[in-house]
This record gives sequence, C-alpha cells and structure tokens, in this order.
Amino acid sequence: MKSLLKTLGLVLVVLFLVSCAARIVNTVAHLEPVPTKAEVHESFSAEELGQGGALFTNNCDKCHKLFEPESRDAEKWNEVLKRMIPKAKLNYEEGKLVRAYIIAHSE
Ligand code: HEC
Repeated sequence: MKSLLKTLGLVLVVLFLVSCAARIVNTVAHLEPVPTKAEVHESFSAEELGQGGALFTNNCDKCHKLFEPESRDAEKWNEVLKRMIPKAKLNYEEGKLVRAYIIAHSE
C-alpha cells in the first residue's frame, strides 16, 4: 500500500513537471521565427493588429506599467514575450496577435 502511494506520488510529480515544461515552451515566441516589421505587415491584417493591440493593453498592465512597444526591437521583445505570454495566460492565437502588434510598433 505504501509503495503504491509512493508510485502514485511519483507519477503526479512527473505529470506536473511535464505540464509545466509544455507550458513554458508552448508560445509563438518559442516556436515561430521572429518576423520583421515588414513581414508582420504582410501577414497580418489591420484588423488582426488591432486585436493584438487590444490584447496588449488589456493584459500586459496587470502586474506592471504598460511597456511601450517602441522601447525594444523585435528580437528583444521576442525574448521578453517568452516569459510574458505565459504570465498573461494568453492562448497561442492571442500570443501571436500580441507579438505581431508589438513588433509592428517596435523600435
Ligand atoms: C502575472 C504578472 C505579469 C503579467 C500579466 C505580465 N507581466 Fe511583464 N513582467 C512581470 C514581472 C514579474 C516582470 C519582471 C521579471 C521578468 O523580467 O521576468 C516583468 C517584466 C516585463 C518586462 C521587462 C523585461 C525585460 O527584461 O526587459 C516587459 C517588457 C514586460 N514585462 C512586458 C509584458 C507584456 C508585453 C505583457 C503582456 C503580454 C506582460 N508583461 C504581462 C509580470 C507580468
């Protein structure tokens, strides 16, 4: 009985770690190459960029002031977004739109 509980505990710990790891690498910033400003404007409509802007202003000032998109270049933003998209609990599509909006207005 004791060893059964131990095994169960171990399985739960492993599942927890796997789900954490999956969440950490599961954003657009980890999985898709960083587009340039020009590429963003080619592949996203004005409407999509507007949605990204709304997601940015509604989700990215919950823990700190809103950092201006012009404050960083696309590569720097991508590094930051690897940490902030999970913090803001954005899904994959939302992360994609926010990254596009920020890069469109980046340094
Ligand atoms: C749950 C709280 C939380 C949310 C939501 C959040 N952030 Fe942050 N942010 C932090 C914390 C904590 C730090 C400082 C630690 C760090 O840099 O990881 C930070 C730091 C930053 C920095 C400075 C990092 C650097 O290295 O220059 C930027 C830029 C930033 N956040 C942008 C964003 C954007 C964009 C969003 C929305 C997608 C966002 N944050 C959502 C908590 C949050």
